[in-house]
Amino acid sequence: MAAPLSATAGPEPDPDFAELVAARPHLSANAFDGLTVEEVPLARIAEAVGTPTWVYSAGALRRRARALRAALDGAGLRASIHYAVKANGNLAVLRVLAAEGLGADVVSEGELRAARAAGVPGSAIVFSGVGKTERELRLALAEDIFQINAESAEELEAVSALAASLGRTARVALRVNPDVDARTHAKITTGRSENKFGVPIADAPALYARMAALPGIEPVGVAVHIGSQITAGVSAFRAAYARLGELVRELRAAGLPLQRVDCGGGLGIPYRDEPAPLPEALAGAIRHGLGDLGLPVMLEPGRWIAGPAGVLLASVVVQKQGAARRFVVLDAAMNDLLRPAMYEAWHGILPVSPRALVAPCSPADVVGPVCETGDTFARGRALPALDPGALVALLDAGAYGAVMSSTYNMRPLAAEVLVDGARFAVVRDRQDHAALLAGMRVPHWLEDAP
Ligand code: LLP
Repeated sequence: MAAPLSATAGPEPDPDFAELVAARPHLSANAFDGLTVEEVPLARIAEAVGTPTWVYSAGALRRRARALRAALDGAGLRASIHYAVKANGNLAVLRVLAAEGLGADVVSEGELRAARAAGVPGSAIVFSGVGKTERELRLALAEDIFQINAESAEELEAVSALAASLGRTARVALRVNPDVDARTHAKITTGRSENKFGVPIADAPALYARMAALPGIEPVGVAVHIGSQITAGVSAFRAAYARLGELVRELRAAGLPLQRVDCGGGLGIPYRDEPAPLPEALAGAIRHGLGDLGLPVMLEPGRWIAGPAGVLLASVVVQKQGAARRFVVLDAAMNDLLRPAMYEAWHGILPVSPRALVAPCSPADVVGPVCETGDTFARGRALPALDPGALVALLDAGAYGAVMSSTYNMRPLAAEVLVDGARFAVVRDRQDHAALLAGMRVPHWLEDAP
């Protein structure tokens, strides 16, 4: 395969195509089929389904769920994994993970319904989020879910009043904000005191005591989640779990009951080739801070499970030469994969055809057709000449990809496909243009206007 390259945006050269493929075991490339997910050439999917299309590997999802479980077991932890549905809520993805024994972490009525529809039992669902509505809490109580993570004194009172009025008991954990810097992108840091999440850890003992006294609530433990895409080692996890461990000891000393500790999500993945901690390191951090408490722990991973398992398959619309740069314009855009525009995120981009994978490369800006300069997937990326119709895959788009899509520029939502060995199936239809207009209407007093 091609060994690019000279011009790159970063100080280090980007990984070449062979390196990007080798780091992702569900991907392969060969001289006949080009880029392939498990046993299905991406060109076949494009032919059958069109582009842009999200393609998920069931095998990668399973392998990653098992690797995480093995790391937790290996550290001697009693742990349950509650996959964060926000990362990828496709029912087929949820189904694969439910069959692996994963529960779900949900943050809305929609996610709760998706998890239940995919076969996740209520007894394996935790509900997180700073702004749960009464309607959402009612549903959570009706489904008798495993745990509600309360994030404020106000929410504790609201859950108590609602549960008591319904004659129910809510199992509630208190989410604390440990004021730890996860050293990740500011937009996805959640565990600093200036962030909106959780209750200040200093207030936690009084709030937990209050929670234990409230009707309709069974206090079950404490929770943290300090941020997402954490790659700078596990020291931030260690610090957060150490603080949580201290809190648990303090609560116990006050005679308050705890059944478990929720360690949140956040484990990062290497999008480029940056070093990222392995799940074994995360398990070690959990054991270090919480291992001697004798309590089961919960995890809420999203990205680590689903991110590497998906690609966004797109076609080149046109390749154009600007005054100073070559632009490769795709039929996918920021409305599909928002992460580069939103977080300056780096996603690997691979050509799909066998010839393009070995052709000489030169720098190109890879952009979408949306009318904003922010609609840029990559700058100065080493890529071969890509004629209209050529296929490319944007890597590591399995988490925070399709779920963050919009219909901006009146662009329909892309299709989603699940690959499982040699089989593939459309697991979400491409939205059609009629669906885009459905539900909008012109008020009657404008109907006859000139
Ligand atoms: N638990 C809670 C309470 C969360 O808020 C999150 C993510 C997770 C678990 C899962 O975190 P993960 O393991 O996936 O890091 N859209 C951003 C990521 C936002 C993450 C929000 N919370 C992105 O594209 O990078």
